[in-house]
Amino acid sequence: MDHFLYRDGALFAEDVAISEIAAAVGTPFYVYSTATLLRHFKAFDDALEGMDHLVCYAMKANSNQAVLRTLAQAGAGMDVVSAGEYLRAKAAGVPGDKIVFSGVGKTAAEIKLALEGGIRQFNVESEPEMEVLDAVARSLGKVAPITIRVNPDVDAKTHAKIATGKSENKFGIPIARAREVYAMAAGMAGLQVIGIDVHIGSQLTDLAPFEQAYEKVAELTEVLRADGHTIQRLDLGGGLGIPYERSNEAPPLPSDYGAMVQRKLGHLGCEIEIEPGRLIAGNAGLMVSEVIYVKSGEGRDFLILDGAMNDLIRPAMYEAYHDIVPVVEPVAGADQQPYDIVGPVCESGDTFAKQRMMPKLAAGDLVAFRSAGAYGAVMSSEYNSRALIPEVLVKDDQFAVIRPRPTFDEMINRDTIPEWL
Ligand code: LLP
Repeated sequence: MDHFLYRDGALFAEDVAISEIAAAVGTPFYVYSTATLLRHFKAFDDALEGMDHLVCYAMKANSNQAVLRTLAQAGAGMDVVSAGEYLRAKAAGVPGDKIVFSGVGKTAAEIKLALEGGIRQFNVESEPEMEVLDAVARSLGKVAPITIRVNPDVDAKTHAKIATGKSENKFGIPIARAREVYAMAAGMAGLQVIGIDVHIGSQLTDLAPFEQAYEKVAELTEVLRADGHTIQRLDLGGGLGIPYERSNEAPPLPSDYGAMVQRKLGHLGCEIEIEPGRLIAGNAGLMVSEVIYVKSGEGRDFLILDGAMNDLIRPAMYEAYHDIVPVVEPVAGADQQPYDIVGPVCESGDTFAKQRMMPKLAAGDLVAFRSAGAYGAVMSSEYNSRALIPEVLVKDDQFAVIRPRPTFDEMINRDTIPEWL
């Protein structure tokens, strides 16, 4: 459930009319709902109740400072994958001992930054990374707490570009080699092994792949403990999917996921960490755009919007489906017609939806892309020299711009001309 509902024929974000925000900031823009963010965080937190746990929001999904602070104030930790994310988490007020560092290519500089600034743990993904981490930690006179990310070779049954738990993927160490790699880690003075990490992919709409992976993690926990390692924390990754097409999708809820975690891993007495991104932020955001033209093509009509693939790349990149709804509620039984919904960028790939049934729309009408709070603004670019679009946060009846639209001068003046020109 989210807080984007029609009221008296107009779409609202909590208690603010979307049309009011559009009038104030112009289109296109992203808008996020505080109540929805908090509701989703709490759903995970409650789902793991009874187990020692920490929900570390995967901030790659949406790393705006105001979003991070909203979640941090509710008690969330953060899962970061770069120096930039680490510094963003810190700037939003997250203490180092609630920040987990993931990712296959952490550089020595990133490792140093996190060790100096404070870190809950590194999720190590390879032997060479382990060696660098050990060396950097020792050079600073520190001991780095680590889990090792294992690759369980499980098919997450999601889009190939976001599946991470098969042996052909670049992530983690093959689970079959885990004992060897843990033994190596135990021999390094700069490292302290505290647990196991696993993340098999994103937008999973079935619990079965998680169950398979977690069964393997449970087995491995016993094996590693028997080998003499301290396994006190299990980082189970993120990945629980959301309904993008509300009319026919109902993925498992955080409560179902939590019950499964308790069932599969509860007996081990470990602290549980999870890294959800999409489920917290995805349905807490809309991208709002205006129809510039309605163009009649050969056998089809195009809705040409002012938002484009550079603003929301998921349809172009993953063939992703997003519900697109008019900001003025269509009257019951209103005529519908199919549209190809596109942006102004000079690529045919700049298509949000083909032959999507919509009520009749005209130039100047506003539409909202649902489920755009995760992997929307963070993946946007200035392709075609289109300025990054603003982000707005709503709380009850208030709204605030949390990232302004840059001016064209700001955009252009970031480039510099060499002196020979
Ligand atoms: N933990 C790790 C180590 C991850 O790599 C990811 C996502 C997450 C947690 C969070 O997964 P989530 O709960 O959000 O599914 N840009 C793509 C999604 C990429 C996900 C990458 N890793 C999209 O728009 O669908």
